[in-house]
Amino acid sequence: MERILVIGAAGQIGSELVLELRKQYGNEHVFASDIKPASPDIMEGGPFQVLDVMDDKQLIHFIIRHRITQIYHLAAVLSGNAEKLPIPAWHINMNSLMNVLEISRICEDVKKVFWPSSIAVFGPSTPRQNTPQLTTMEPITVYGISKLAGERWCDYYYNKYGLDVRSIRYPGLISYKTEAGGGTTDYSVEIFYEAIRKGNYECFLSEDTALPMLFMPDAIRGTIELMEADHDKLSLHSSYNLGGFSITPRELSAEIKKHIPDFNVTYKPDFRQAIADSWPQSIDDSIARRDWGFKMKYGMESMTKIMLDEIRKKLNTK
Ligand code: SER
Repeated sequence: MERILVIGAAGQIGSELVLELRKQYGNEHVFASDIKPASPDIMEGGPFQVLDVMDDKQLIHFIIRHRITQIYHLAAVLSGNAEKLPIPAWHINMNSLMNVLEISRICEDVKKVFWPSSIAVFGPSTPRQNTPQLTTMEPITVYGISKLAGERWCDYYYNKYGLDVRSIRYPGLISYKTEAGGGTTDYSVEIFYEAIRKGNYECFLSEDTALPMLFMPDAIRGTIELMEADHDKLSLHSSYNLGGFSITPRELSAEIKKHIPDFNVTYKPDFRQAIADSWPQSIDDSIARRDWGFKMKYGMESMTKIMLDEIRKKLNTK
């Protein structure tokens, strides 16, 4: 039976991934961890440990003691925050990955590792429409540079040591359970909260900034499907492009207005505009679809309805 460790369980992806993995593998088989406490359902629904992924001794001790067989390493500093503190962000993003890869290589029980990459690996010289898996990659952010270097290390560990690393280049992730922190695509989450709380939102990207997005249920399902996919079907151990749907703030606010007619959005682009302008507007994910059958279920309309319903419930408004 698998014994799965999720690092970064209090984060935007981790807080939902842990719950889904526990449904599928049993509560006691999924060990959640984070540097800070997670939500009560994560901490009380199964094993939880405060763990600093930067502390390799603590990490290896935990992995050996619990005979961990799979690791999802989700802890990272996102694009916007990383630009404010480039060197610490580089250390956190790179050293945490190197700790996980090295420990997984050494510990024989660990058979598979998942690590998230991002559309941030691309840069201004990349074709921005239907961006292919393999293309020019000259990221201009610390976050993107660390993700591109990380992809190369994942591929290196696979080729050199046979470590079965699997990865997805996530587009912007839209979710209601846990808010993201410090990313460039985060307007697409904030806008829902502000629409419900205040009826207006000041967007930090300009109205026609197109970016690829994915609703969290699709991201979680896709991630677990990739981890469960037959090894022989996978042609990539660096990271798979995943497309989602492409939207602009203008399009998303128009969709929200269908439900909240008085909703008003103003635009005040900040430093994240330059980051968004360097990223793809749409992604070609045909290799993910071919290799492990990825299929998106939610588009902008179905996602918007669920986001509004769930955030209203969460904030106790009608
Ligand atoms: N969503 C992330 C960010 O905006 C990119 O992977 O930083």
